[in-house]
Amino acid sequence: MPQSASLKLDDKEYPLPVLVGTEGEKAIDTRKLRADTGFICYDQGYGNTGSCESAITFLDGDNGILRHRGIPIEQLATFSDFVETAYLVIYGELPNKSKRKAFGMLLRQNAAIETQMQRIFEGFPKDAPPMAMLSSIVASLAAHYPSLATNNFEKDLANFDLAAAMAISKVRTIGAMIYRYQRGLPYIFPKQDLPFCDNFLHMMLSEPYQEFIAEPEVARALNLLFLLHTDHEQNCSTSTVRTVGSSAANLFTSLSAGICALSGPLHGGANVSVVQMLQAIHDEGDDGTRFIAAAKNGSKSNRLMGFGHAVYKNFDPRARIIGKACEEVLNKLGKEDPLLTIAKKLEEAALKDDYFLSRKLYPNVDFYSGIIMRALGIPNSMFTVIFAIGRTPGWIANWREVASNPKGRIYRPRQIYIGPVKRDYVPMAQRG
Ligand code: CMC
Repeated sequence: MPQSASLKLDDKEYPLPVLVGTEGEKAIDTRKLRADTGFICYDQGYGNTGSCESAITFLDGDNGILRHRGIPIEQLATFSDFVETAYLVIYGELPNKSKRKAFGMLLRQNAAIETQMQRIFEGFPKDAPPMAMLSSIVASLAAHYPSLATNNFEKDLANFDLAAAMAISKVRTIGAMIYRYQRGLPYIFPKQDLPFCDNFLHMMLSEPYQEFIAEPEVARALNLLFLLHTDHEQNCSTSTVRTVGSSAANLFTSLSAGICALSGPLHGGANVSVVQMLQAIHDEGDDGTRFIAAAKNGSKSNRLMGFGHAVYKNFDPRARIIGKACEEVLNKLGKEDPLLTIAKKLEEAALKDDYFLSRKLYPNVDFYSGIIMRALGIPNSMFTVIFAIGRTPGWIANWREVASNPKGRIYRPRQIYIGPVKRDYVPMAQRG
């Protein structure tokens, strides 16, 4: 492992420190480069830029590795649950019995949305995009609980446990209320005695009563979905939360910004596109051959949705877990979904095709997650909201890391300006 690096500009050499993470990830520290040389680093979209040091999640895309606080995602998916994994991601350790109980209690006590906040919903049209509603209502938490959202790191960290539990619990309640509001159905309030996922199903689907929500497999599958989305290193929404948080903005405001970032189809919205694609294949009576052929012509608009990943270039470990769970859930619920059959055939065909193999394009987490959600009675419009509920603990952990870093600085990248050089203002009468 090199211990030092240098940059040579003409004849002059500038030493650059080398950083190495606990899993051997290497970086060249360029923080002083501009002061020393007048040069900045250019890395459009930050694809090769480490924006922070973080102790939360380790991701090795070449080898399909994802670990939270050191623990492999496969072990968490098998032995843990969403609430425990949320605790691990936020606080750094698995909770002992009493800490787990106290955390669960705090979540239960802070699930409800107060009457004044409920009125915010009425200000939205019934067909408002759910993610637009979610981000606005989460932002309003800062207005409703100003003592937890002072925009002062020290004070907000002193109230962090309560603010974090409120955020996790209320984001779920708001999600369920958005579902009800859009359908003109009366809200169902959270029950203190129900576990996290059962409570979500209760608030969303128990009136009119839908029998299938009582099946333990349903809450278990939802638990797995939330757990697999808990955190994913410095993706678009998490970097957004860190960026906003770095200005000392409070937790709720930063989370709201993360929800906005997640709403885009290139990030949290891909699971909707996968189901739409599978549905189109089904409606056309095709076996996917046409879609595979179209995906290979290089156009971005024809891509095989649910395939490929910005950092996983071998396999997405979450996709393996979710693909297996998808079949199990449908079997246990005795449901058949023609879209699952299409998805499996499509995967099989693509994975034999040199185009996908040579570009290292494999199914990602979104390839099967939409099919599970359909089986759980969750409509397409709510898929990204489910992603946001799952990702909230990861955002919270990242906000906390920013807020507690005494050496942290505000996120403020630079740019290469390519606009006009200096010119004079022209009065209106002289303009052509
Ligand atoms: N279908 C067909 N071709 C593809 C696909 C695809 N899904 N993805 C990438 N390619 C091709 C691309 O055209 C390029 O080909 P060439 O080398 O001939 O120009 C090559 O593969 C490399 O593509 P890239 O754009 O450099 O890959 P990327 O790593 O920058 O993009 C991606 C990653 C996820 C944006 C892309 O794979 C994609 O658009 N996938 C479909 C959308 C999707 O499923 N998104 C969910 C991502 S997982 C959710 C999350 O974690 O937020």
